[in-house]
Amino acid sequence: MTDIKIRIENLYKIFGPKPKSVLAAVQDGMSKTELLEKHNHVLGLKDINIDIPARGISVIMGLSGSGKSTLIRHINRLIEPTAGKLLVDDDDVLSMSKSELIQFRRHKASMVFQKFGLHVHRTVAENVAYGLVVQGTAMNEAKSQSHKWLERVGLAGFENHYPSQLSGGMQQRVGLARALATDAEILLMDEAFSALDPLIRTDMQDVLLDLQEELHKTIVFITHDLDEALRIGDTIAILRDGAVIQQGEPQQIIMHPEDDYIFDFIKDINRGRVIKIGTLMAAPNNNVGPDIDRNMVLEDALQQVASSPTQECNVVDSVGTRIGSISLTQIVAGLARPDVEATPDARYR
Ligand SMILES: Nc1ncnc2c1ncn2[C@@H]1O[C@H](COP(=O)(O)OP(=O)(O)OP(=O)(O)O)[C@@H](O)[C@H]1O
Ligand SMILES: [Mg+2]
Repeated sequence: MTDIKIRIENLYKIFGPKPKSVLAAVQDGMSKTELLEKHNHVLGLKDINIDIPARGISVIMGLSGSGKSTLIRHINRLIEPTAGKLLVDDDDVLSMSKSELIQFRRHKASMVFQKFGLHVHRTVAENVAYGLVVQGTAMNEAKSQSHKWLERVGLAGFENHYPSQLSGGMQQRVGLARALATDAEILLMDEAFSALDPLIRTDMQDVLLDLQEELHKTIVFITHDLDEALRIGDTIAILRDGAVIQQGEPQQIIMHPEDDYIFDFIKDINRGRVIKIGTLMAAPNNNVGPDIDRNMVLEDALQQVASSPTQECNVVDSVGTRIGSISLTQIVAGLARPDVEATPDARYR
């Protein structure tokens, strides 16, 4: 079974002067609109239950105002819930004292902000070292760590620059180096790459994925960009009006969107570049053609399957074991957008 690093149970957040007084109404199903109209309180989060696996990237998606920032800020208790449980490594974050919480934020859960959050009057190296000095690390050690992490995110040589002398992408590399230098096991990233130009953004996703391959942090990553979510997420949870509508593996969400809201998110993706044949394959079928890897996307598999004499291929796992088969018809069906209905010509019916 997967290790659970962060467990969120029955979490509610209501904003307003007397949140507890309206909690029961919300638990009984009162909607966000009704709560605002009748009681002048804002429903931030509603009965959130999420298990965040250790050493993976868990993406949280949703439209603006759906509660993403509210949720991630509960994890290091920048926000107090109205009700619910929050466990990290089985420790109850909500019962931590002030000093325990300070230790928790310094050592266990680092945050990377959308607007980078750098000190403008400190150099790049000082920005990264600062978090360590606060942790009680000696200055010399902090400097050497800072150097190491700046190098690791591709900023060697920029140590003595000030943030304003760097591009947005470089500033966010500093933000990432600062979070990594604290050695925290958990990285909380709230729209960390959203302020960057598309190409720089893709670069930063690569930097993160590269680092993750080596460091195996538990990353909670918020985005409203589906391409980003699919590129980096091991799991995705989708929020609407403060509630989780669907959570699971990206491939499952694409193949089985739970409702129209989710479908709206996924309908414009390039299915050929996103769906993997492992998601569509049928049972193994006695060496039907060449072997292809389960993680190949449809677009790449298409050529191979089309040129197989049987128009089928064996699907194999990473060690070459045959785990399924895939046919041209299955690939074409996977490429078709599920909302576009076929309207067959009467002459051919
Ligand atoms: N301090 C607050 N007081 C009152 N309402 C709040 C407060 N913080 C957030 N909200 C409300 O809670 C809901 C969720 O907000 P949140 O900022 O978590 O959304 P989000 O998904 O992060 O949006 P965005 O994509 O725009 O960042 C919104 O309706 C917002 O207006
Ligand atoms: Mg937000």
